[in-house]
Amino acid sequence: MDTFHSAADLRACVSAWRRAGACVGFVPTMGNLHAGHFSLVELARAHADKVVASVFVNPTQFGPNEDFASYPRSLEADRAGLAAHGCDALFTPGVEEMYPFGAATSVRVEVPQITQTLEGELRPGHFAGVATVVTKLFNLVQPDVAVFGEKDYQQLLVIRRLAEDLRLPIEIVAAPTRREANGLAMSSRNQYLSAEERDRAGVIHRTLSAMRDGLHAGRVQVEIEADARARLAAAGLVPDYAVIRRAGDLSMPAGSEHRGLVALIAARLGRARLIDNLLLDP
Ligand code: PAF
Repeated sequence: MDTFHSAADLRACVSAWRRAGACVGFVPTMGNLHAGHFSLVELARAHADKVVASVFVNPTQFGPNEDFASYPRSLEADRAGLAAHGCDALFTPGVEEMYPFGAATSVRVEVPQITQTLEGELRPGHFAGVATVVTKLFNLVQPDVAVFGEKDYQQLLVIRRLAEDLRLPIEIVAAPTRREANGLAMSSRNQYLSAEERDRAGVIHRTLSAMRDGLHAGRVQVEIEADARARLAAAGLVPDYAVIRRAGDLSMPAGSEHRGLVALIAARLGRARLIDNLLLDP
């Protein structure tokens, strides 16, 4: 596997693949990779002849009080893992390579719909940072296929909208969430949890399943959501939200709607803020 720090070197490599007729898959990441990320690489491999992964901790998607400085970085282990999972090239640029005019003064990509609620409401500017860096990465890599995890469900919808609205010729593929034995969704931020907290965090997936069961049993949505928040709080988590929304655009469903919905949770536990979701009729 080749490693590139410069956009020009990466482009030269991808152009040579294209001239040889290869289809290119792309997996953008912020590093500190785990089995969930490697499953994205394997899915990209299944859709493409060549796979590029990027490792870039993107400053513009972190708020001023968030964990940009302390975000776990483990480039050597990431490189070894990517190579072992069949990645062909790693792009790991510095901040100046991605933001030549400075991160704060960069051209920005805004996705006005889908981003006004949930993570977008609680983390102002987050999705503009994600959309901006993903657009730049798409432009540098020019993949045919890009793979994103369903765990970051709202991000997946934002990227789909971005690719469609900018008419990018890139197929966006969703990868199912990988989970620990207790149901906890794999995430780089799980590293912030103690062993005991990891155990307790299994309540998030159990709560999502209870929300699904409640909906299927015909319970009223506001009651399902109130019960979900109470269940999380009883396990010592601080819920930011536990809601049922339309899976297509995260708008609020009418009380009579029972199809095409998703349950989403964000909750804080110790030093970690955890998000997860469950499609209610996948
Ligand atoms: O999901 C992530 O790891 C990041 O938001 C992404 C898509 C790599 C953009 O920085």
